[in-house]
Amino acid sequence: MMLGVKVHKINGEKVRRKLIELDILDKEYRIKRDGEFLIFPVKKKIEGFQIVETEFEPVEKRPHSYREVVNLPEHLKPLLPSSFDIVGDIAVIEIPEELMQYGKQVGEAILKVHKHIKAVFAKGSAISGEFRVRELVHLAGERRTETLHRENGIRLRLDIAKVYFSPRLATERMRIFKKAKEGETVFDMFAGVGPYSILLAKKVRLVFACDINPWAIKYLEENRRLNKTPNVIPILGDVRKVAGQIKADRIIMNLPKFAHEFLREAMLSINEGGVIHYYGFSHEGNPFEEHERKIETIAKKLGRRVEFIEERKVRPYAPRQYNVAIDFRVA
Ligand SMILES: C[S@@+](CC[C@H](N)C(=O)[O-])C[C@H]1O[C@@H](n2cnc3c(N)ncnc32)[C@H](O)[C@@H]1O
Repeated sequence: MMLGVKVHKINGEKVRRKLIELDILDKEYRIKRDGEFLIFPVKKKIEGFQIVETEFEPVEKRPHSYREVVNLPEHLKPLLPSSFDIVGDIAVIEIPEELMQYGKQVGEAILKVHKHIKAVFAKGSAISGEFRVRELVHLAGERRTETLHRENGIRLRLDIAKVYFSPRLATERMRIFKKAKEGETVFDMFAGVGPYSILLAKKVRLVFACDINPWAIKYLEENRRLNKTPNVIPILGDVRKVAGQIKADRIIMNLPKFAHEFLREAMLSINEGGVIHYYGFSHEGNPFEEHERKIETIAKKLGRRVEFIEERKVRPYAPRQYNVAIDFRVA
């Protein structure tokens, strides 16, 4: 038998708060109903309340992490990553080789704990190729790679197997959105399915959004309709072919691995006084210097001057390596 505080339900909320304040409410057990009355499980007797002796049902404990429910030999559990990416209703996890044979168990544990996730995939390779995509290995749930992702108040339909998309860049995209100004023309050189383009189009006048991957442009067109942003102009093809013909006040170069190879194109397209948001990969140490040098060299060749406005590490992408962002103005 346990101790309970019995009160009329009219006073229920007031008493509940009081018991919490006094740290007497036993949260491991459920509050009981008894006709017009409520009985609160308490850890000890308390003056001024009607105390009863009764049984309470324990509160069901929901696991916080998939790691608590995964069916795996104990010695392998420390290898489980603490987090994974969620794109729409699909989870993408990076598991070490030793766990691959238990992939199904890992996937099922994620589905069990996160009810809104419908499919789980493992990263099957590094991001590679011109389209910047990776192989995926199905672990559990639906065998579906298309989904609808919500981010920064916009909706993005995309297929994680056919196009590049990282939910980890949401904060970075919002940072750019805050810097953009109404009336600007933006050129998103490596637009993907449009997470920058569509977001910025909610604020600026016009966005040229280029990508070489036909699937990315297909989804970009769909996302433009979905988010009612007709001021996004999708361009399918190699950005080298259109750069220079397009003039913009702000340019986004979200291709960290190769952005340095497109600096000339970016500078041919930027209006005087315009801003370029450049991304690159760097080692620890001085992560910006090498990129700054490349930027200055190209600017000099084209007779332009650059002023570095802001530099930051966006996120680590490998041990001791960072995805860096460099914002610079071109005069
Ligand atoms: C790192 S992804 C970024 C996509 C998007 N900005 C995002 O945040 O999801 C780079 C994109 O550049 C595209 N790309 C690569 N080379 C290109 C080129 N020469 N011209 C146009 N797009 C290119 C790839 O297809 C890919 O979608």
